[in-house]
Amino acid sequence: MSTTTKIINAPSLANCSFLEMGRQVEELVQGGAHWFHIDIMDGHYVPNLCFPVRIVGELKQRYPGVDIDVHLMVTDPMSYLPLLKQSKADWVSFHMDSTNFTRRTLVTIREMGMKAGVVINPSQPISVIEPVIGFLDYVVLMTVEPGYAGQKFMLDSLPRVTELDELRQKHGVNFLISIDGGVDYQNAIECARRGAEVYVTGIYIVFQQEDGIRAACQRFEETLTDVLKTQAMNSPIAQS
Ligand code: DX5
Ligand code: ZN
Repeated sequence: MSTTTKIINAPSLANCSFLEMGRQVEELVQGGAHWFHIDIMDGHYVPNLCFPVRIVGELKQRYPGVDIDVHLMVTDPMSYLPLLKQSKADWVSFHMDSTNFTRRTLVTIREMGMKAGVVINPSQPISVIEPVIGFLDYVVLMTVEPGYAGQKFMLDSLPRVTELDELRQKHGVNFLISIDGGVDYQNAIECARRGAEVYVTGIYIVFQQEDGIRAACQRFEETLTDVLKTQAMNSPIAQS
């Protein structure tokens, strides 16, 4: 069992309604969200398009205290970095198989003052990160195939969360584990038990909920925090 104590709700703005976006973003902030997940696609790495980099600058200008986490689904991640830095992105991740220069890209992101991460696809082994394990601030585990919001969580991702947690313990590193794709209450609770910290949330958690975006955000954080508290109380160390 992992010792994770923090939970970060990272709403994926790809799930916003374009016509309602400003209001929905405001509700996310009022609901306590302080981390936004922004999908950037180039139509080549994945067969879809999402946000332009410009959204990062606009969000940081209005909400400087919110961490902007950019998920690059592009074939040339390095070429996006100067503009992301200029836009004040906080976290930048790119896919392990999108560049031959993973280490150089991670180092460049950090040199630019941003936090660096890689994204692991469902068909890649977790061990793929081992050569760059010392250069990671976070790892995004895809729990759907990248490219579209609203897909179903792949259940065989659960043991992969454990594998990631074990890998960071083995190497004595402390990158955050972020779960991206189809996150709902059931699988989020299971991922929390296995050590994940960041939850990219969409229509199953914060959007399209009966109690509205603001209340749904609060409900999610409270529920997951309770799960972790209970887990900590039941741990062998707490009982000894
Ligand atoms: C999928 C994206 C996700 C997506 C998550 O390519 O990386 O960020 O927007 O949203 P849901 O929860 O709808 O899968
Ligand atoms: Zn994403």
